[in-house]
Parts: sequence; structure tokens; C-alpha cells
Amino acid sequence: MTVMITGGAGFIGSHICVELMHAGRQVVIYDNFANSHPEVINRIRRITGTAPDVVKGDVRDVNTLISTLSAHGCSAVIHVAGLKSVADSVSKSAEYYDCNVVGTLRLAQAMQQTGVRNIVFSSSATVYGEPDVLPLREDHKLAPVCPYGRTKMQAEELLIDIAHSLSPLNVAMLRYFNPVGSHESGLIGEDPNGVPNNLMPYISRVAIGRLPALNVYGNDYPTPDGTGIRDYGHVVDLAAAHIAALDCVDKQRVLKVNLGTGQGTSVLELVDAFARASGKMIPVTFAPRRPGDIASYYASAELAADVLGWHAKRGIAEMCRDAWNWQRKNPNGYLDQ
Ligand code: WQD
Repeated sequence: MTVMITGGAGFIGSHICVELMHAGRQVVIYDNFANSHPEVINRIRRITGTAPDVVKGDVRDVNTLISTLSAHGCSAVIHVAGLKSVADSVSKSAEYYDCNVVGTLRLAQAMQQTGVRNIVFSSSATVYGEPDVLPLREDHKLAPVCPYGRTKMQAEELLIDIAHSLSPLNVAMLRYFNPVGSHESGLIGEDPNGVPNNLMPYISRVAIGRLPALNVYGNDYPTPDGTGIRDYGHVVDLAAAHIAALDCVDKQRVLKVNLGTGQGTSVLELVDAFARASGKMIPVTFAPRRPGDIASYYASAELAADVLGWHAKRGIAEMCRDAWNWQRKNPNGYLDQ
């Protein structure tokens, strides 16, 4: 039976699509291409030998969702489509609630109307907010400190309520930490519009010469080297976790799982690792802390291992190697086509 991937032409969605196709699953990509490039479809075909089915549509368009779920005989949905910039969610809050919350609701309604009961939802560690204790476990309180994190928490809550309704869904919510890297082919990768908000694509563009230096946002945090610590995970490992979640989503009504490595890496440590992987100098300048940034967060990876039988296989060196391989082969991202 077919799996619909909303946002399947995006950075994470395209990697999930490749892994599903490698696993022999039928997929249909549902994407409005607002934040992804049509060339991605061609790249997926080059990697897997087959072009995935594609429907251009918005997650708030219930009728197109219904027709896609029905026409493709979908048995499950992996819901990745959404807006994810912490900074933009402050200046464009209404757009974030409309896309991330209303979009998730409309998708759930379309699934209820077509009898598709299984959903794997792309959630985020930003739902936790400032950690009380580390590593972050799934039972940590939810206290998001930005509109983006609040939209993810509210989307989780509406899915939980629907899971217990008279027209229930089976829901697996995967809380991403910091996905980075790219497929080993270097054919698909992270290609944000404009100047990247996130660390790894920013470093990549410094290394390729598109940006002059990395601004390190704060070196006065209470961390060993003073810079922010995050749990970076390889996007291919993350994609594999979605397949594991699909295989068990119908075994319990609601599942919440962190997708992290359990290891924290600082900004300067990542810069050093990338310099080693690429052979490129990464000039840095120290800048004030970025508003809303948290000093340190990383996951407990225990539940993912227990429930999904999943753990991250790739380390920081592989993440940097593969991120550089993508950037080196695509200096201007997908616009090179
Ligand atoms: C990481 C570290 C910065 C850029 C992101 C997404 C969010 C969520 C989690 C999915 C921090 C520092 C960054 C730069 C820097 N993803 N930094 N200079 O903030 O953890 O959140 O991942 O749910 O949607 O926004 O990741 O890569 O932006 O920052 O010093 O130019 O790098 O201060 O310590 P973050 P990030």
C-alpha cells in the first residue's frame, strides 16, 4: 500500500522518500513546492531508478488531500510539510499557525474521510523549550518558547485528541533534534532559500565560498567552550527512523519519540569537524547570542531504541562529510540545474 509524504520534496521529506523506495514501498509525494525545488524529483529518480508519484498540493486543501489519498490507495501518511524557522515564526506567526496547525488538522480530517488511519508526524524538540534536565526524555514538560515550537506542540495535541476520537487515527510523533547531512550520492541535500538560519547549511556555504565567515551566536554560554550545544543527527538515520515508526504506528494509538543521537556537539566542535571533513578553513566571528536560543539540548535516545528498535548509526564526521559532498557537488544548490 502507498505512503503519502507531505513535504516529500523538501530536505527531510526527500530523504524519507528515498529510504522508503529503497525499502520497496510505494510513495506519493504531496508538496506545494513553496520551499522545495522540482529538481528534487529528478534527483530521487536518479538515486532510486524510479520517479516517485508527485501531487502538487497544499496541506490546507482538504479536497486535494482526499483525492490524493483515495486515488493512490494510501495506507499511511508521513506528515513533514510545515514551516520550521524559529526566527520567521516570530515575525510571521499567523502563517506558521495556519500552515503547521491548520494544515495538520486538514490532513487529519482528510485521513478520517478516506479511512487512512496511520500517520507519522514530523514534530520537533523545540516543544520542550528550556530543558529542566538533560538529556531530554519524552516525558519532559512541554514549554515551547517560540511560535514555531508552539505550533508543533498544538499539532501534537490535536492529533492526540483525534487519536482518541470516534474516528481515530494511529499517531507516531517523532521529535526531531537537529537533522543535518545528506544522502551519500550528494544528489539531494539541504538547500534553504536565501541566507541559511541553521548552522550546518551556513557553514557549508562558507566552505564553498558563498558566505565570507560564520557568525557564532554567543560564546558565553555555560558550556565547555562557551558555544551552543545541539544534538545533530544524520538525515539518512532520521529517514530510517520513519520507516521503523511506520512499521509500528498501528500497534498503539499514540507514540511520542525523540529522534536524536544522545550526543551534544558545540558550534565550535561542529566547525572543526566540518573543516576536517572538507579540508576548508571556516572563518568565524563571535557575535551576540541569538534571541530565543537555548544553551544546550540533546536527546535521550533510549525510547527510540526500545520502541522503534532504532538508533543513529552515523556520527558527526559522517554528517560533515556528507553535507560537504552535497555542497561541493551543488555549489548553488538545486539552482545549478
Ligand atoms: C544551532 C546552533 C545557534 C547559525 C533548528 C531549527 C528548528 C529545529 C531544531 C526542527 C545554535 C548556532 C546557528 C549560525 C550559530 N528543527 N548558530 N550561527 O536553533 O537548534 O534550531 O533545529 O524542528 O526548527 O531552527 O538550530 O542550526 O539554527 O542553531 O552560531 O549562523 O548553532 O546559536 O547554538 P536550532 P540552528
